[in-house]
Amino acid sequence: MSFENKVILITGAASGFGKLLAQYLSPRGAKLVLGDLNEKGVQAVADSLPGDVIAMACNVAVEEEVKALVDACVAHFGGLDIAVNNAGISSPPKSLLDVTEQEMDINFAVNAKSVLFGMKYQIPLMMKNGGSILNVASAAGIGGAPKLAHYSASKHAAVGLTKTAAVEFARYNIRINAICPYFTNTPMLDNAAVAGMDKGIMSQGSPMKRLGEPEEIVSTMVSLILPSNSYMTGQAINVDGGVSAF
Ligand SMILES: NC(=O)c1ccc[n+]([C@@H]2O[C@H](COP(=O)([O-])OP(=O)(O)OC[C@H]3O[C@@H](n4cnc5c(N)ncnc54)[C@H](O)[C@@H]3O)[C@@H](O)[C@H]2O)c1
Repeated sequence: MSFENKVILITGAASGFGKLLAQYLSPRGAKLVLGDLNEKGVQAVADSLPGDVIAMACNVAVEEEVKALVDACVAHFGGLDIAVNNAGISSPPKSLLDVTEQEMDINFAVNAKSVLFGMKYQIPLMMKNGGSILNVASAAGIGGAPKLAHYSASKHAAVGLTKTAAVEFARYNIRINAICPYFTNTPMLDNAAVAGMDKGIMSQGSPMKRLGEPEEIVSTMVSLILPSNSYMTGQAINVDGGVSAF
């Protein structure tokens, strides 16, 4: 499972899945470029890692900032092998009837346009030697998510972008997949709980009758970006305790 000398970009690396993935990859030889809106947080993660790593402030909803993060891969490490477009936001739950245009806009900017911006600058760097991109969508990007219409719609868009890009660029040996987790115990879920989503109800929604743990999601993220997983592309992989089997 070596990622020796692979240049790997991760967004949303100050917390949750992104942070844990960085902590997994760094001791295994990866050269990391970490971006997050939370500049201090992502710098602290970088400072705690053993390998070659740079951290940058990056708002993934702003195209120039995403481009700058990708450019940093070339400037510091000479290219890009793997990109994980992971940064995202949740939203306070509310009926679809109450969702505002502003709430749709912010969800689409951070959860969907970010995926387009990322791939737009990551793919050209992979067209010569191939590469792999993993977009972090959600179980809410595969099925409906009551009270989360704004979030769910943006994650469906992320899945659509993933599949389209995978088909367009498969001939360049660039693999592009999405991971679609069910509710998982990260700081995002704590924020959602504060905003009124009940963790007990979320747990009951899964056939396993529990939430996911971050390590369980990151384990699948690792397997999706492994260079040996070389024939899988265009997939949206559910990691959901069985929710999608209903
Ligand atoms: N935790 C879950 O239940 C769950 C389930 C399905 C999908 N996801 C998705 O997984 C991804 C990671 O979430 P997490 O659970 O680790 O959450 P998290 O809140 O722990 O981490 C998200 C990170 O993204 C960063 N971020 C937010 N907006 C940003 C922006 N505009 N630009 C750059 N960085 C930004 C935050 O600062 C934070 O460090 C998200 O895309 C989320 O939608 C999470």
